[in-house]
Amino acid sequence: MPSTKDIVLADLINNESYLSGEKISTKLNISRAAVNTAVKALRADGYVIDSSTNKGYKLIEHPDKINSGELLAYLPEKRLETVACLDTVTSTNKIAKDLCYDGAPAGTVVVANHQSAGKGRLGRSFISPPNTGIYLSYLLRPTLPPDKISTTSTITAWAAVAVCNAIENACGIRPEIKWVNDVLINSMKVCGILTEMFVETESGLVTGIVIGIGINVNQKQTDFPPELQEIASSIAAQDGGTKYPRARIIVELIKELDRLASNWPQNAGEYLAMYRSSCVTIGKEVDVISVHTDPNEIPRRGFAVTINDDFSIRVRFNDGHEEDLSSGEVRVRGLYGYT
Ligand code: BTN
Repeated sequence: MPSTKDIVLADLINNESYLSGEKISTKLNISRAAVNTAVKALRADGYVIDSSTNKGYKLIEHPDKINSGELLAYLPEKRLETVACLDTVTSTNKIAKDLCYDGAPAGTVVVANHQSAGKGRLGRSFISPPNTGIYLSYLLRPTLPPDKISTTSTITAWAAVAVCNAIENACGIRPEIKWVNDVLINSMKVCGILTEMFVETESGLVTGIVIGIGINVNQKQTDFPPELQEIASSIAAQDGGTKYPRARIIVELIKELDRLASNWPQNAGEYLAMYRSSCVTIGKEVDVISVHTDPNEIPRRGFAVTINDDFSIRVRFNDGHEEDLSSGEVRVRGLYGYT
């Protein structure tokens, strides 16, 4: 159930003109005093709300916040029943995993304003500062044996398409994808995806898959640590400093992930087509390194030929032989530079 504060905020966001206090109290069946209390609480959160004796309330300044009221302005109340909107967490993937073990339904979303221990791929950490990024995990609940599910090459690739669609719908910018699931704007990484799968030991069935998505939205370029300056960026930094309301992107992301969940795995053709048209890796020279990163490993240089139907990548190596790779990590010359 959304709180009075959430409903009042959603109403204010959806009304460009003044909204009478009486109308709100009648609609919600609450007292005028309760409406006043909600408005006071919203002001304390940084919302600038004008009040006029005859006209009512109007939202004058809309800070970039992640809360249930923001999401309620654009999503049906029913959908929000399985969306946990939080401030600071360790990792949204961890919370989604715990919810999965507690029996949470498919489509459960955990979204946060800040992660203190955000997880990246290959055991790395994902820097997740407050007030500028989106950290979201989405729960899928298939009941399939693990060998029927290739998380790295399919779901994660589909998720990259979902992120591109969401950013395009909310910000009007179409990102590109570096195989397998880095989302780029102007060749800079603005989003990372970490998909985790949970298997029930007794039955051997996959009980849950968590798609974890981290999007850099409003960071300045100088906010990134020196070692990431050439690689990572935010949507705003790549769009001349234009700030984007994170709640709008979250809403589009939830809609796209709901679409993914209802299409997966049977509707691969549509996602494959969108993936191929967004993937910048194809037609480029690449360095292939194994995921079990060994500092002494010498990358194998080749040419990325195509994305196969199962989202693996075909690489032609310099000696002429070709390999289909689904678990290696590919670096693209000129994008990340050679290390
Ligand atoms: C990567 O690029 O290495 C993947 C980064 C994935 C980060 C997201 S943020 C939301 C979710 N929670 C986490 O702890 N990690 C993922």
